[in-house]
Amino acid sequence: MIIKLKLLKNILLGLLMVFPLSVFAQFSYDLQGHRGSRGLMPENTIPAMIKAMDLGVSTLEMDLAVTKDGQVILSHEPFMNPVICLTPDRQEIPIDDHSHNIYQMTYAEVLAYDCGSKVHPGFPQQVKFFTTKPLLRDVFEVAEKYAKDKGLPAPHYNIEIKSSPEGDGEYHPGVAEFSDLVVNLISESIGWERVNIQSFDFRVLKYIHEKYPEVPLAMLVENASRFQEDLNELGFVPEFYSPYFLALNKEIVESLHQKGMKVVPWTVNTKEQMERLLGLGVDGIITDYPNLAPKR
Ligand code: G3P
Ligand code: CA
Repeated sequence: MIIKLKLLKNILLGLLMVFPLSVFAQFSYDLQGHRGSRGLMPENTIPAMIKAMDLGVSTLEMDLAVTKDGQVILSHEPFMNPVICLTPDRQEIPIDDHSHNIYQMTYAEVLAYDCGSKVHPGFPQQVKFFTTKPLLRDVFEVAEKYAKDKGLPAPHYNIEIKSSPEGDGEYHPGVAEFSDLVVNLISESIGWERVNIQSFDFRVLKYIHEKYPEVPLAMLVENASRFQEDLNELGFVPEFYSPYFLALNKEIVESLHQKGMKVVPWTVNTKEQMERLLGLGVDGIITDYPNLAPKR
């Protein structure tokens, strides 16, 4: 009997050496669809959100801009990006031309731009069709209804306020006005149970932390190895720490967990990297390709 148990143990150890542990592991984690599902659908659009939900994401990630008439819409840039948008008369925008400024347009004017038909060189699998930049309010309404109708879990929303000191008053409202607009819209529509705000702009995070302490916040950073300096600069511990994925390692993840943060790196677009990061113990991953994500 003892010999048989030893044999069994040796076989199991042998299997573990041949197959990495990740092959056997079932991860439970927050799967976030970046800009909806940018690898598969035009980014930051309603079809990208629907596709992400069909693929089983738990959270929809998106970026915000503001129009001249104060509408909060989804857009990664505060202007019509020449890489993804065509003018109202379906012409290309020169690549360095940032003059199609969303903050200087009404939402009616924004709706004349096609931001779905142009082939994206970085994401050749995207399905191509005419589509426009949606209102945040409409995204909530459609996503909530879709989840209900299809019997899917209600999605979480990771919502980025895109701002910078150089853009204040020119490409977007200043920190207080932008943050108040977004926080009030969310408070009056969907509430905070399944929503957090994220930003690279620490001014935004500090302002919201002070004025709306109930709002969950994610700090966005480029380099995880600078986490202590960045936390010192921020001056408080947010709910989420969201770095570019490459510099993350087990020690950093553990330190961040000890400080009480969830770790959710971006933008993780291969199966191998997703498995590596989940193996490090991250709490979620943000990906353009939710179709490649390991089972949860
Ligand atoms: O949520 C993190 C990620 O979206 C940050 O990068 O530039 O795609 O907004 P970016
Ligand atoms: Ca983003």
